[in-house]
Amino acid sequence: MKRKVGVLISGRGSNMMSLVEAARDPACPYEVALVASDKPDAPGLTFARDSGIPTFALSPKGIGKPAYEAEIDQALRVAGVDVVALAGYMRLLSDDFVAKWRGRIVNIHPSLLPKYKGLDTHARAIEAGDAEAGCSVHIVTEELDAGEVLGQARVPILPGDTPESLAARVLVEEHRLYPRTLAEFVQR
Ligand code: GRF
Repeated sequence: MKRKVGVLISGRGSNMMSLVEAARDPACPYEVALVASDKPDAPGLTFARDSGIPTFALSPKGIGKPAYEAEIDQALRVAGVDVVALAGYMRLLSDDFVAKWRGRIVNIHPSLLPKYKGLDTHARAIEAGDAEAGCSVHIVTEELDAGEVLGQARVPILPGDTPESLAARVLVEEHRLYPRTLAEFVQR
């Protein structure tokens, strides 16, 4: 039985696409059962719909975070989701939501955690003079970007790198790391 993954996105969803592409392999241990977004116009939703994946989109604006999260939770449960994968999801989940899905939410973060939690990771790595940057897949807990690291990929920082050029090279590695790490995670 394949494990069912619900992917939460806020934007272009390129990491979600890499998860969907990997799941086309019959040997992949997970399937993407739902793509949900807090941005009803997130470009990634179009890809999901075109791929025949159920989608759910709802903005918290106007209804408030508890009601919004209750709807997301309900959509995930109706879709039979076992594991929630955050992929460029730009909202902090409440402690209550994290507790409901304890140990079953993963995220991809564009730094070598525990370095550079939060935003502007690439600029901070360049500014610090680091020799390498990268990305991490980790379990989501109540504390931002602080849960168990499940996998990492490293990318050298090159002379003349800008946050944009570095982000582009890290993103290539994100697309490799996330499907591989998620496949391992759903089997453990
Ligand atoms: C990725 O760099 C991810 O690591 C970060 O936000 C970006 C999302 O990109 N959290 P996408 O929406 O998956 O294309």
